Amino acid sequence: MKKNSVLIAGGGSTYTPGIVATLLANMEQFPVRQIKLYDNDEERQKVLAEACKVIVAERAPEVNFSYTTDPEEAFTDVDFVMAQLRVGKYAMREMDEKIPLKYDVVGQETCGPGGIAYGMRSIGPIIELIDYMEKYSPNAWMLNYSNPAAIVAEATRRLRPNSRIINICDMPVCLEEIMARVLKLKSRKDMEVRYYGLNHFGWWTSIVDKDGNDLMEKIKEHVSKRGYEEDYPAGQHKEESWLEAMRAAKELLEIEPTTLPNTYLKYYLLADETVEHANKEYTRANEVMDRREVEVFTTCRKIAEEGTSKGYFEVATEHSSYIIDLARALAYNTKERMLLIVENKGSIENFDSTAMVEIPCIVGKDGYEPLVMGSIPTFQKGLMEQQVAAEKLTVEAWIEGSYQKLWQAITMSKTVPSSKVAKLILDDLIEANKGYWPELK
Ligand code: NAD
Ligand code: G6P
Ligand code: MN
Repeated sequence: MKKNSVLIAGGGSTYTPGIVATLLANMEQFPVRQIKLYDNDEERQKVLAEACKVIVAERAPEVNFSYTTDPEEAFTDVDFVMAQLRVGKYAMREMDEKIPLKYDVVGQETCGPGGIAYGMRSIGPIIELIDYMEKYSPNAWMLNYSNPAAIVAEATRRLRPNSRIINICDMPVCLEEIMARVLKLKSRKDMEVRYYGLNHFGWWTSIVDKDGNDLMEKIKEHVSKRGYEEDYPAGQHKEESWLEAMRAAKELLEIEPTTLPNTYLKYYLLADETVEHANKEYTRANEVMDRREVEVFTTCRKIAEEGTSKGYFEVATEHSSYIIDLARALAYNTKERMLLIVENKGSIENFDSTAMVEIPCIVGKDGYEPLVMGSIPTFQKGLMEQQVAAEKLTVEAWIEGSYQKLWQAITMSKTVPSSKVAKLILDDLIEANKGYWPELK
């Protein structure tokens, strides 16, 4: 089997040590000869990289490991770029969440005005990564987790239509893992799903076991009582603010009982409640800075100091497994069925063929083949049309430097009550994002 060279872009991400460790634990299914990290924040990346160096030396010393802030060094001789940038880092996420909340509008990383603001920051740097990859390793694939994935995907469709980038999200697989535990299955891979929507905006229409027997009804029974809350204790989505989103699936199912909802629909369909329960002074960004960021960086400093990683980063998460499964499918033509964010092109028959939708695809060495999802009902179609319009307007605003279009984009979001409120939020966001957004006229 050919051995792979992997570059993690956004090497300073809190997810980096987990991805490195999972790569090393999967060497039989996906052999790796080289792992590199790339970030534009040298100091931040170094802390995690020094720990990853120890992890690699202990678990797979034959793998070459290095880290850099130099694009040429990073992108040369690479088969897969796993991208996970957070442009503006947590400090800007905090702004994205708190500015809309000031006007009683949902403040969220990827949804509503906050997601639009984050999108306006991310488009340029993601295009830059694609250009580095095409210059230094033109045959590589970029597997992108960088958010907001919906807006990033639309931007790459518009600006780099022929690039080898695949945009993905871990939320459906994380929720499927919960469903599998509720059903007492070994893993989500014992289920086969049909799912459609936009990123962070979708529904399962069918979940069956390997013999084709329906599993939806049993899952719905659980969701109708507890949402996606379960007894399994640990994990990223178990902190209080996330549990609220998990529980909200119960109400989401009441609104649309023929499908199973992605939790992110909460921010659109239960916006008022979300705002009522929000703490305007302490949002998810604060929670992540105080917990995951501190924990990951403290652990990594400890690993580097003590020279051993025993007991740390030993359990693979869905997040790291999913991106490696995708790389493996492309490298070894496994034809795995995976949810990807791809151009619709008729897969959802009665929906904009140029929309970037999240649907099951078969992945092999030549890329992905989307499955046909057919015609969708009026409720989902209406919601998706409004949401995709907001995403497309954001990308157009970035390309044209248009204040008008960005105002329309924010107005279009179902989280925002009026064009007047949209304008107030937009003007605050422009101030906060100086140096990150193109100048708007
Ligand atoms: P983080 O802030 O810890 O890491 C992001 C890193 O990106 C930082 O080290 C930062 O310096 C770096 N960076 C920012 N701009 C850069 C640029 N122009 N060039 C190179 N590096 C740059 O963030 P995190 O919480 O670990 O999340 C990382 C990313 O992954 C975020 O975009 C997050 O939203 C995304 N994410 C996506 C999914 C998904 O489902 N698609 C799941 C989890 C996380
Ligand atoms: C899920 C989503 C990601 C999002 C993350 C936020 O995993 O799929 O797109 O970035 O949640 O998690 P956090 O712990 O940073 O709030
Ligand atoms: Mn996601």
